[in-house]
Amino acid sequence: MAIERTLSIIKPDGVKKNVIGAIITKFEEAGLTPVAVRMTTLSQAEAGGFYAVHSARPFFGELVEFMTSGPVVLMVLEGESAITRNREIMGATDPAEAAEGTIRALFAESKGVNTVHGSDAPETAAAEIAYFFRGIDIFPKAGEAITANPS
Ligand code: CMP
Repeated sequence: MAIERTLSIIKPDGVKKNVIGAIITKFEEAGLTPVAVRMTTLSQAEAGGFYAVHSARPFFGELVEFMTSGPVVLMVLEGESAITRNREIMGATDPAEAAEGTIRALFAESKGVNTVHGSDAPETAAAEIAYFFRGIDIFPKAGEAITANPS
């Protein structure tokens, strides 16, 4: 077990539904601490670059359009097994398949409009965190050494 960091995004639908606080509370109650937080509206270039790995998928245009449709909250979450833990709290990509009580079961509308994003592996977490945050803007939880994926 290791203390990790992962990138979390509260997507435009989550911001519009006024559930930023409810979502962050779920993370904090599960032992994940936001150590960097920024609210912004992504440009097409920023969203397209972030999701470049999906650029050949049929839903890519729709994904970029949705992610630029309103403000998002970008966060670095830190904690024990943060990458896996965050994905458990989010629930499955498709809200119809998301476990009861997960963020997507509670708030998401569809596979595309699914309220939150979370990094899926240590390598992607490091790359996604670096895409949006400078190291100097990340504030480690007091006394915790990052043992898995420092950025
Ligand atoms: P996210 O975890 O942010 O990473 C990739 C995103 O692509 C995913 O969440 C979904 O929002 C989106 N996505 C995946 N599959 C589909 C789909 N079939 N239709 C629309 N969007 C999708």
